[in-house]
Amino acid sequence: MEHDLIEIGHITDHNRIESITREIILTLPAWFDAAGQKNYPVENQQKYFLAATKKGKAIGFIAITDIDSTTAEIHCIGILEDEHGKGIGTKLINAAKAYCLDGGRDVLLVKTLDASAHYPPYDKTRRFYESKGFVSRRLIAGFWGAENPCLEMIWLPGTDSNRRPGD
Ligand SMILES: CC(C)(COP(=O)(O)OP(=O)(O)OC[C@H]1O[C@@H](n2cnc3c(N)ncnc32)[C@H](O)[C@@H]1OP(=O)(O)O)[C@@H](O)C(=O)NCCC(=O)NCCS
Repeated sequence: MEHDLIEIGHITDHNRIESITREIILTLPAWFDAAGQKNYPVENQQKYFLAATKKGKAIGFIAITDIDSTTAEIHCIGILEDEHGKGIGTKLINAAKAYCLDGGRDVLLVKTLDASAHYPPYDKTRRFYESKGFVSRRLIAGFWGAENPCLEMIWLPGTDSNRRPGD
């Protein structure tokens, strides 16, 4: 069977960033609560924003924050739920790693829900990051309040294979 081509593109138009983010995270209520649904479409407009498209339709995105000259951080990533497990998240993470390296940075961070929350949807999310070479770095108490323990994970370029991401 022929696979549909997935394209990864840099989006700068704020209205498109807002609508892509909103449409996708509204399909992901197990991961994004009402505050996330309200805030990410606005916040992502200020980020480096990449969209994954299939036949012209956006099916996933990643938004990256430039922290400083050494470090970038994944602010938010989401794939339409019926497209999970097809390698689209991997393409977006590889593009984020390439963006990080191309900008001369050598640290990529992500904050996610810690295992101590005992919330299965985010168990899958952490396994995804682990499979992409991220390791647990620290717990940040109180970052999202006591109910939502925050785990910061880190990716360092040397920890992948010797290939450049995306090669
Ligand atoms: C997490 C997410 C971005 C992953 O994207 P995806 O396209 O489904 O992931 P991929 O198909 O590229 O899978 C990549 C790897 O993760 C693993 N993985 C993906 N989903 C998994 C799951 N549900 N359980 C276990 N492992 C999983 C795959 O086995 C694969 O491993 P491999 O590369 O070693 O073969 C996507 O599922 C998603 O949008 N989740 C909801 C939103 C979310 O969690 N955002 C992050 C908030 S911090």
